[in-house]
Amino acid sequence: MEILDDPRFVVAPVPDADEGVAWLRAHVARFSEGIEHERRRALTLSLLDAIEPSSLRRPGHPVATLAEAMGLPRATAADIEVVTACYQPHEPVTAEADAAVARLVAVAGNAWDEATAARIGILIQACAATRSMIAGNEPPVPATRRISPAGKEIVVSLEGGPFGAGRHECPGRDHALALAEGARSFRELHRADDPLLLPGAWDFASAAAFVRQGFRAVGTTSLGVAAAHGLPDADGATHGETIALAKSLVRLPVPVSIDVEGGFDLDPASLAAELTTIGVAGVNIEDGRGSDLVSMDQQSAAISAIKSAAPELFVNARVDTYWLGVSAADTTRRAMAYAEAGADGVFIPGLRDRKLIAELVESLGEVPLNLLAELPLQQLRDLGVRRVSTGSLPFRAALTQAVSTVDIYRSGGSVPEAMSYEEAEGLCRVGVAE
Ligand code: HEM
Repeated sequence: MEILDDPRFVVAPVPDADEGVAWLRAHVARFSEGIEHERRRALTLSLLDAIEPSSLRRPGHPVATLAEAMGLPRATAADIEVVTACYQPHEPVTAEADAAVARLVAVAGNAWDEATAARIGILIQACAATRSMIAGNEPPVPATRRISPAGKEIVVSLEGGPFGAGRHECPGRDHALALAEGARSFRELHRADDPLLLPGAWDFASAAAFVRQGFRAVGTTSLGVAAAHGLPDADGATHGETIALAKSLVRLPVPVSIDVEGGFDLDPASLAAELTTIGVAGVNIEDGRGSDLVSMDQQSAAISAIKSAAPELFVNARVDTYWLGVSAADTTRRAMAYAEAGADGVFIPGLRDRKLIAELVESLGEVPLNLLAELPLQQLRDLGVRRVSTGSLPFRAALTQAVSTVDIYRSGGSVPEAMSYEEAEGLCRVGVAE
């Protein structure tokens, strides 16, 4: 680490260039020394100073959150990922990354100058390092490089000093820590003393009502979302509706987990990228398709693809053996395979057998088991269940209540009690800054 404090050991010099990744390298603090480094580092510090770290404590793609705090579109994260892969001078540059730099310049200042490079540089520096931190890697960035006075490249381990040292020491530490905390907040709720009771919302108002009632996170019910739009459930038909709902729910001040049925027949990595960029904290993905199951290998591959595309997303793998009443004997094998593929939690709707629940909790170890709210909460807690979902129960209850309210009136009864107009209207202001 002393090497990082020693001015004789410098960052690798990069040639000047007027476009693409080469231009970016040649204009950021990270690959410069001397007076240029001082000037560019000052630009970086002033940009970071304008962002209150606590405002970054939110779930989802850390770069999307940081970009938004810098006044840039959340979708900028996609181009940042492409450039990150070729940012270091020892990495070969792709044409795709050069094109991404041009698009980034257009949104981040529209001038090929140091101020624009500083904005892009901050997002690039945040990308792989913060995601690695969220994934729990220690240290998140294993090493950096310097050129010795003799011109030799030296790899400097960051063991014991994860944010570096000296004049290039990471200026984004507080921001990185806040982003990582936000991205991990949903996962942490699965480690509390009591199981996480996750109510299933079907629109913004139902989710906001749950938040106002003090629920620490909200999920969605695919039946509720589909039925509210006159569409069938579990048919892959509600991608657009689900994304629109996710975009509204991320306004709420709690983590949001979205039910994506079987993945809507989409590329799992693209779907994961879309959701994490919006800012959702987790997804539920099921292995049921119609009245059958997809193969365990296919589902495991989908889960791995989601985790590589969006490591911060809490993936709750739903095993539909009990739900569909097929291959119940494969339940544990599937649950373990999905956990092995990277699932952060396993959900087995329809499972009520207490002995099997206890065995599964034991086999899954650190991976939380999620069940439907079919047994009393206290019993599920005692069995070691970490998350309890209501599924479509609140949606069905709301429909029942709505119909019976009008029915009572039709039969000559007095109008039943309900939430006031003002209270219901006020729900759309939950999560909106005063
Ligand atoms: C919001 C997230 C982050 C931002 C905005 C950020 C920003 C930056 C910037 C601009 C630099 C270059 C400074 C310079 O050359 O003067 C830098 C360097 C560095 N960052 Fe970060 N960073 C973030 C996250 C992280 C994380 C999570 C880690 C790992 C724990 C990390 C580790 C480092 C290290 C080790 C260096 C120094 C590299 C060297 O000396 O060669 N950064 N960071």
